[in-house]
Amino acid sequence: MIYHQLIVVGGGLAGLRAAVEAKQEGIDVAVLSQVHPGRSHSGAAQGGINAALANNPDGADDTPAKHAFDTVKGSDYLADQDAAIEMTRDAPDVIYEMEHWGCPFSRYDDGRIAQRPFGGAGFPRTCYGADKTGHYLLHTLVERAYERGIKMYIEVFATQLIVEDGACKGVVAYDMINGGFLEFRADAVVMATGGAGRTYINTTNAIISTGGGMALAYRAGVPLKDMEFIQFHPTGLFTTNILMTEGCRGEGGYLINDQGERFMSKYAPTVMELAPRDITARAIQTEINEGRGIGGKQFVYLDLRHLGEQKIAERLPGIRDLAIHFEGVDPVTEPVPIVPSQHYTMGGIDTDMQGATPLPGFYAAGECACVSVHGANRLGGNSLLETIVFGRRAGAAASAYVKGKEGGGAPAAAGADPAAARMAASVEELAGRGTGEDAYAIRAEMTVTMKEHFGIFREQASMQAGLDKMLALKERVARVGLRHSGGVFNLDMMRTVELAGMIDVALATAAGALARTESRGSHARTDFPTRDDKDWLKHTLAYAGDAGPRLEYRPVTLGTFEPQERKY
Ligand code: FUM
Repeated sequence: MIYHQLIVVGGGLAGLRAAVEAKQEGIDVAVLSQVHPGRSHSGAAQGGINAALANNPDGADDTPAKHAFDTVKGSDYLADQDAAIEMTRDAPDVIYEMEHWGCPFSRYDDGRIAQRPFGGAGFPRTCYGADKTGHYLLHTLVERAYERGIKMYIEVFATQLIVEDGACKGVVAYDMINGGFLEFRADAVVMATGGAGRTYINTTNAIISTGGGMALAYRAGVPLKDMEFIQFHPTGLFTTNILMTEGCRGEGGYLINDQGERFMSKYAPTVMELAPRDITARAIQTEINEGRGIGGKQFVYLDLRHLGEQKIAERLPGIRDLAIHFEGVDPVTEPVPIVPSQHYTMGGIDTDMQGATPLPGFYAAGECACVSVHGANRLGGNSLLETIVFGRRAGAAASAYVKGKEGGGAPAAAGADPAAARMAASVEELAGRGTGEDAYAIRAEMTVTMKEHFGIFREQASMQAGLDKMLALKERVARVGLRHSGGVFNLDMMRTVELAGMIDVALATAAGALARTESRGSHARTDFPTRDDKDWLKHTLAYAGDAGPRLEYRPVTLGTFEPQERKY
């Protein structure tokens, strides 16, 4: 048994920022991560982080209030307005904090942090480091965490929350290097494990973005909020879904159909390629569905050629490398085939603005959490912001909670690891089954089902069929067996154990989507094509039930911005 006052699960931006905050508060904090923190999915974020710095002459009168309005409008009015206001108010401070901690942002000639346009703002608000912003921010925080002496448990895979006496008291985790399960006891836990992109086959997300932290919370009785809202990034590479940053369009890139048209003029004439992502992704998918994909195929072009080699080399060097290596095209001389790709889980573990969940001692931040600041559609550049703003807040709130509880997480019988022993026994039982259902076949069916039935456009009969398929997969998961029974680095066991959680998380998406009889943000129903503020200006809360998710609802926090029709 290992004890720390606070355990942070996840070594990405939100987790590291929470840990740094706790350490500054004098808390004994440790980070658990299934990969080295420098390899977390936060590092894949490319184009930037939003803050109303007003550094660009075109956005010189930008304010946090304007940023809050754009965030709420972008969310199709499902974001909680108090949370959006607080996040955007904190934004300049966290940017300058990261700058002072060494983050190498791109700069103007006068030395100030550069800003580029992203969707939903109408002027440059997005701070960036070329097209590797997440990577730069992540490594700044990794260095900070090591410099502060934060204890890291790397290649440790959390499998269960420990809940005793109605409070979270730590996690059980698989020690990949040494084999076996360990109890990491704590007075509080911050979950920061990222999104659930891998529940879809067509995702920009890393292999580790499985919704694991969401599943652990859900099984412990914590609701998942607004899971039906799945963001499709307009521009993933056609053959791999690797992200081509929104910064491509921010720097002036065009979207072109088979007829050579900049088709966004039909869908968002004022802002063209810089419409919010839900609108742009639907536009691309409509062009493809109506036969105007390039050569009648399932992609359109992202055209950067007119930007010129020098600008591409300076602002979009990573994009050029990725397009060359993964699609075989050089954006300097050829248009890039792209397709909308699952990118972000707007929903997640239900938290308040301090990262607190309904379970005492259990906090969450970053993509695995839902505060909610993104509502039904997140603006590009608000994700990196959310990780740092709410990572910091969750670290502070969890620190306040654990102060005065010193040693409270240590079990009464020293040396006893009953929760870890139970986990080990259940894995032994899995291994002992020999060949049962094939976990990899079930995973593949799940990801295709989510793409086909809960994709960009949705409709009752298709979603019902998709939900039924997912429930059947849930039953089959109960019969899977392991292919490999080794104790050390048993990735087969990890992928198998996480699969059941992925199906639970995907089912929350499916059930929420089927129930919501309106179109709002990323949730576009062909059978209910309009937004219905009278009946649906409310958050979905999915609770784990024996026969699948049980749904409840909670009103959206309004009060500052009157819901209006979104026009761009
Ligand atoms: O397009 C991008 O660079 C992604 C940014 C984001 O998801 O916020």
